[in-house]
Amino acid sequence: MSQSDREHFESYRPQTLAKHTILKNYITAYFQILKQDEERIYYVDGFAGRGTYTADDGSPVPGSPRHALDLIASNPELAAKVRTIFIEQDDKLFAQLEATFQSFYDEHPNVHEPHLANGTFSSEMTAILDSWKKRGVAIAPMFVFVDPCGVDGVDFAVIQRLLQSQRKCEVFLFLNVEGVRRILGLRQNMGETLVRLLGSEARVAELARIVDSASTTSEREEAIIRYYEDLMREYTPGKYVVSFRVEKEERRTTSHCLVHVAQHPRGFAIMKDVMWSVGKTSEGKGGLLFEQASYSTIVMLFRPEWDSIKASVLEELRSGPRRVAYFYEELVQKPASRLCRTAYRTALLELEREGEVLVLASDGRTPAPKRPARKGEMTLGEQYYVKRP
Ligand SMILES: C[S@@+](CC[C@H](N)C(=O)[O-])C[C@H]1O[C@@H](n2cnc3c(N)ncnc32)[C@H](O)[C@@H]1O
Repeated sequence: MSQSDREHFESYRPQTLAKHTILKNYITAYFQILKQDEERIYYVDGFAGRGTYTADDGSPVPGSPRHALDLIASNPELAAKVRTIFIEQDDKLFAQLEATFQSFYDEHPNVHEPHLANGTFSSEMTAILDSWKKRGVAIAPMFVFVDPCGVDGVDFAVIQRLLQSQRKCEVFLFLNVEGVRRILGLRQNMGETLVRLLGSEARVAELARIVDSASTTSEREEAIIRYYEDLMREYTPGKYVVSFRVEKEERRTTSHCLVHVAQHPRGFAIMKDVMWSVGKTSEGKGGLLFEQASYSTIVMLFRPEWDSIKASVLEELRSGPRRVAYFYEELVQKPASRLCRTAYRTALLELEREGEVLVLASDGRTPAPKRPARKGEMTLGEQYYVKRP
């Protein structure tokens, strides 16, 4: 195991905070929804790390295992229903992870004892699935976090099997776009890493051809992200795929994407909202992007991304009034949609202020009654209608 995997935990970077915020906020919703119908739910941390990070001031910061356990322990119903699997390959980090658990259990004996495995995500997960199959164990819904430092160790076949094993299984994955681009550049000497990531040599060759034919770095990055998303949609039951792009700290290129693969439109819609609220762009509207090198707090005169979102809303209203629920529920659940409820609400409210949109009552004809404000902002419930003036 490389030294850099261990060094990874010695600083807590803004992009790691963003990743943990998305993870925490999403699994909170996932567990809350699933616990209504399920007796058993799994949280799988396939690249668990040591359990904590060290901040620049030397203080400990929770890693993903701690975030998940804190959430589970905080709610008696979750403590009773959610079981955990933590896999870590590196011996030293694994020993630290075990120590993290020990102190956690001393304080929270109410949670299920986790399955801790010192091995690779691929071999440990395969062994678990094989043993469940052999024993005829019905597979419970699983949220699987696949969070390597690099590209190595992410196994398409295992991810496919997990998604196929249970229709409420979801995967949240760190796709190291920069790493994939670098390995593709090695040509004949790429090794097995990408074959495992994509599932076959033919796919690696196909992606290499697509990336070769792109003329700019951003086109190459886009090609890698789209290829991986399409692979999930085409060859797994995960038809709802969304990626959150993270820019490098010191260069205006993509470091990685956080890819969420779900089989249900509700999880997809919730994840987009969660990601959107963590998104950071110079346009200041949130989004599925975390700018770092190019981030600026200077107020932008032009906001091309945001203006195109508003234009798409007006386009939807060309044929007549629409219920707000059409934007909040119907459009956001379309597999190709990259927008979420928050984006639509913000766009509709801004268009209303600009006189481009009128809000109607729930009968779709009369003007809306006075609407309540929340946190200083006008609300826009899904029962209203909106139309062009
Ligand atoms: C980015 S860190 C994980 C951080 C952790 N998920 C968190 O947020 O606190 C990646 C971890 O995966 C481990 N690792 C690398 N390859 C692995 C593999 N094939 N299977 C399991 N763990 C692996 C590394 O040792 C490292 O601790």
